[in-house]
Amino acid sequence: MLKNFWYALEFGHRVGRTPVKATCLGQDFVLYRTGDGTAVCLSDLCVHRGGALSMGTVSGDCVVCPYHGWEYRPDGACVKIPANPPGRGVPKKARVDSYPTVERYGMVWAFLGDLPEDERPPVPHIPEHGDPAFRAVHYEMEIAANYERTFENVVDAAHTPFVHGTAFGNPDRPEVPDFEIKQDDWSAEADILLSPPPPGGLWSLLARRRPRPEYVTVTNGWYLPNVVKLHVRLPFGDLILYDFNIPLSQDRTLIKILGYRNFFTGRWADGNAVKRIEKILLQDKPVVESQRPELLPFDLPDELHMRSDALQVAYRRRRAQLIGQGWWVGGDDIVTGDGPRRRATVIPSPARRDNPELARAWVHKARSGAGAAPARDPAGEPEPSEEATP
Ligand code: FES
Ligand SMILES: [Fe+2]
Repeated sequence: MLKNFWYALEFGHRVGRTPVKATCLGQDFVLYRTGDGTAVCLSDLCVHRGGALSMGTVSGDCVVCPYHGWEYRPDGACVKIPANPPGRGVPKKARVDSYPTVERYGMVWAFLGDLPEDERPPVPHIPEHGDPAFRAVHYEMEIAANYERTFENVVDAAHTPFVHGTAFGNPDRPEVPDFEIKQDDWSAEADILLSPPPPGGLWSLLARRRPRPEYVTVTNGWYLPNVVKLHVRLPFGDLILYDFNIPLSQDRTLIKILGYRNFFTGRWADGNAVKRIEKILLQDKPVVESQRPELLPFDLPDELHMRSDALQVAYRRRRAQLIGQGWWVGGDDIVTGDGPRRRATVIPSPARRDNPELARAWVHKARSGAGAAPARDPAGEPEPSEEATP
């Protein structure tokens, strides 16, 4: 799992004045909106006794922990400890990590990492969003597989006729002609020719009037860290899926999908579009859930790659560079999951770098990579109340 990227954590319409939990990179986050509607993303882990802020409430611009009522501002600083008598201050260490947010394409994105603004990778561009020619549907499904397995599955053209049969592949013509990849630091795309199946169901109404082409061009692409695009050109229009493969943990993925189409653009056809997306995902689910090893190998030679796997190979190479940069978040950094844990680590937020004087202000350790706060004294001194700023 890679930190230092913008992650789409939730559909914007689900984030409001009641806190909601979002999980990503094996960490829990709380999302809510301030009085003026700005989305906030904080670590969900109250520094007092580890209560889940997402089970609390919103008061003004603050989120209130459900356990003892500590109030945290959008910048992560605690501003109220109700059990303290009047006049007793709030310790500097009473703060949680706060992550920058943006809203794009109807999603709330959080920057999960500590890079300064001008060094952050971009939010992927979705040109169809806001284009009146396109109609969008939302969909999500949880899969018991690693997110890099589900991510690679979408850009894998060779599996289409086998896993999806005649849904949008052609089992009689499974070969994938060679294709070229356009790549930059954060994305890769390729136009791939696939033999199309005869369309069925509702879509056949439109297709009947046109001859069936020998090949259709499918554009596959990935956008770091976890977005994949599948653009299918049907005889009667374009269907473009953006899959957000959200790593809940190392072995569970929440796939959120934005599906755009420029045919049957009435609301009446939304249900049918959603059903088709669901059908595709249900075909992929048992296959990716059965892949072993569960986690994507780190070394390229650990699996065999063909020309048709070029997009996945490009991803694995780029990922290796980023791991070399210290952006990897591994199993030791995971807080969520089935087993009980004695330690909780968090993804470091930008404030840890921005304010050197805060270097010792953090209770929860940030592990994995550059910018992590120095380890706390293992003796684990209790918080002296004198440290409280009156
Ligand atoms: S655990 Fe959050 S206020 Fe005590
Ligand atoms: Fe698939």
